[in-house]
Amino acid sequence: MAFLDLITARQSVRKYSQRPVEPEKLERCLEAARLAPSASNTQPWHYIVVQDEPLRTKVAEATFSGPVKFNRFTLQAPVLVVILLEQPKLRNRLAMILKNKEWKLIDIGITATHFCLQAAEEGLGTCMMGWFNEKQLKKVLSLPDSKTIGLVISLGYAEEDYPLRTKIRKPMEAIVSYNGF
Ligand SMILES: Cc1cc2nc3c(=O)[nH]c(=O)nc-3n(C[C@H](O)[C@H](O)[C@H](O)COP(=O)(O)O)c2cc1C
Repeated sequence: MAFLDLITARQSVRKYSQRPVEPEKLERCLEAARLAPSASNTQPWHYIVVQDEPLRTKVAEATFSGPVKFNRFTLQAPVLVVILLEQPKLRNRLAMILKNKEWKLIDIGITATHFCLQAAEEGLGTCMMGWFNEKQLKKVLSLPDSKTIGLVISLGYAEEDYPLRTKIRKPMEAIVSYNGF
């Protein structure tokens, strides 16, 4: 797909069919994620792919809790990917402190975007999720407290007739200015 067409085709999918995701498609999404750039090439991420029951349902349940309605669609998604935010190298951590910037969060956004765009290229739907119960998720995945979870991504084929993107974007003039603010 031409790149802008791919960007336009990608949208958050919150209704999934039960069609399984082909392993080679999942692997290409992970390869796209692996090739993402990062500050000082630290690659501060680790992908945990969850497909098997009962773990998948437990991970899904950790993305919503109590009366919270959103993210319940994760129960339908055949694949859930949990991205751990790993500690960058000491040099990079010091540079972040000196510059008061959280490059590792930028890095994780880029790798997640690579994953989602490759998924769109494969005809698959995704939804990035920043809302989850981190404590519950760590328990379910037997992760130590020292680990940090950056994002969860759902992956699968969208339900048939899934509506096309409705989310509008700010107009160009609202987000771009030339030669000054
Ligand atoms: C960092 C981040 C966190 C997000 N968290 C959630 C979430 O917890 N639940 C959800 O349904 N969508 C979540 N989204 C998806 C956004 O709502 C969505 O990308 C945005 O509304 C634009 O819609 P589109 O992806 O269809 O273009 C998240 C997106 C990002 C980038």
